[in-house]
Amino acid sequence: MKHEITAKYFSQEDLLESGCLDLKMAIEAAENALVSFSQNEVLFPEKIVQIFNEDTQERINCLPATFLKDKICGMKWVSVFPPNPVKFGVQNLSAVLILSEIEKGFPIAFMEGTLCSNMRVGAMGALAAKHLAKKDAESIGFIGAGEQAKMHLIAMKTIMPSLKECRVAAKEDVEEAQFISEMKPIFKDITFIEAKTNLERSIDGADIIVTATSVQAPLLKAQWIKPGAFYSHVGGWEDEYAVAKGMDKIVCDDWGTVKHRTQTLSRMYKDGELTDNDIYADLTDIVKGEKKGRENDDEKVYFNAVGLAYVDVAIAIAMYRRAKENGCGQELTVQKSMIFQHPQIKDWIRL
Ligand SMILES: NC(=O)c1ccc[n+]([C@@H]2O[C@H](COP(=O)([O-])OP(=O)(O)OC[C@H]3O[C@@H](n4cnc5c(N)ncnc54)[C@H](O)[C@@H]3O)[C@@H](O)[C@H]2O)c1
Repeated sequence: MKHEITAKYFSQEDLLESGCLDLKMAIEAAENALVSFSQNEVLFPEKIVQIFNEDTQERINCLPATFLKDKICGMKWVSVFPPNPVKFGVQNLSAVLILSEIEKGFPIAFMEGTLCSNMRVGAMGALAAKHLAKKDAESIGFIGAGEQAKMHLIAMKTIMPSLKECRVAAKEDVEEAQFISEMKPIFKDITFIEAKTNLERSIDGADIIVTATSVQAPLLKAQWIKPGAFYSHVGGWEDEYAVAKGMDKIVCDDWGTVKHRTQTLSRMYKDGELTDNDIYADLTDIVKGEKKGRENDDEKVYFNAVGLAYVDVAIAIAMYRRAKENGCGQELTVQKSMIFQHPQIKDWIRL
């Protein structure tokens, strides 16, 4: 058995059943990952993008990262097929993750990846809120009621147990109702309010604001944002330029990357409406205490994460450890032996 290679396989259900939907764990992993990266303990090569349709942006991306101290290299393989909901009535995003140890270089785990990916988005928003939202935030307002919005609520409530009111606006009433029917049983101490597609009703006066929509339009208006609010921007172009202009602090996960993408801040930068000097900090600077977080109760703060895949890998490592510890997942045999050491090899070869 000297040449046997085994690894674990974790379906989404294995991960859920083994307690991996733990945003506290994810936020901690994200925070540690930001610090490790800043200390040059993470290898993070450029992602590989394959676009199959320029119009619809159907694509599969390959995003690797290595945590040198953990001796684990990982890769997220993520498909984004925007026409899926309309064309096939299915989700547009799917992902798998592979982890390998880097002593022998052998694979150790294959796992479903949307859970980890969505947890990373929520964890980064909540990590930013930990440092930049009001400590006693009570109300949260959403524009968008999809998968990211739901995970963001779980992450925000984890970091901010004081939240007791959640307002939600989506494109259709039915999506708001679904959001509430899925979230209400999880959070009995939160009062949920459907905004009936009235975006202002969802946002006006909220302590924490989240936009997580699939549309490219300036939905969020600056006049709805009260002093002291924290805004987590998740999607693409979702807010009018006046929103960022009216903020006291703008923080990104990585401004150097954000400015070359297509979010509102990136558009503003390209349109000459925002410069490097308008960005207060990257989240890592705040996590490490090199820049201050919130400094008073009136500050309005804007947070935009473009998505750093090394954070996905860090969360995947934490999930792998949790799931393995709890005995979940299937043992996979990747190979039992070297190719030509299989006794049956002469019968298996097709000549
Ligand atoms: N920043 C990141 O790291 C990151 C990671 C993953 C996804 N995203 C982005 O997050 C966004 C949301 O993703 P999701 O998986 O939750 O999508 P989803 O399809 O599950 O939900 C999208 C939501 O947008 C709402 N919406 C669409 N048009 C609207 C309108 N005109 N007014 C109000 N609401 C409207 C829909 O009602 C729906 O509730 C996407 O843009 C996605 O690309 C960002």
